[in-house]
Amino acid sequence: MNTRRKRRLFLALWPDVAVRKALASAAAEVREHGSGRPVADQNLHITLAFLGSVDEEVEDCVRTVASQLSAAAFGLTIDRAGWWQRSGILWLGPSAGPTALNRLVKSLWAALEPCGFWPDFRDFYPHVTIARRWRKARLPEIKPVHWPIDALALLESHTGQRGARYTVLERWPLSR
Ligand code: 2AM
Repeated sequence: MNTRRKRRLFLALWPDVAVRKALASAAAEVREHGSGRPVADQNLHITLAFLGSVDEEVEDCVRTVASQLSAAAFGLTIDRAGWWQRSGILWLGPSAGPTALNRLVKSLWAALEPCGFWPDFRDFYPHVTIARRWRKARLPEIKPVHWPIDALALLESHTGQRGARYTVLERWPLSR
């Protein structure tokens, strides 16, 4: 019998307490101007690579790749709110093209190829989802959040009756 279980995983930027607090405060302000299903403060993050449901062998490969990735730390400014009407996603993100972040995602997907993933960075648009099923009223300006990006995180996603819950499985520092 195969007892190896699959887990739903993704690689992400996972904010520390201070950044999370600042993102949560900006999110709360934006959500005052419409209605939908808010994302819990403890779930706020930026997905870099969604991996889906993977077995232990693939998970080990992903961990090796992430631990060997050579990428430098950088700063990211989250300074705007946006809304994707079709998917109903309300988000916070950077208004400036975050070149360092795009480079990181590109090299991450390239490194993940030997683990069986197909590069999927063409449509990458960095964002922190702050609500789903959003019906827009207005998108206010937000107080910019300065987020020092100094680590990659591997997250497991659990979906329960009360929505998604994420667990950080491992973190790898970016070089300074
Ligand atoms: P979203 O919040 O921007 O929708 C964990 O589920 C994370 O992975 C979420 O942040 C979600 O991004 C993203 N995600 C979930 N399902 C996905 C999919 N099928 N393709 C790409 N990203 C996905």
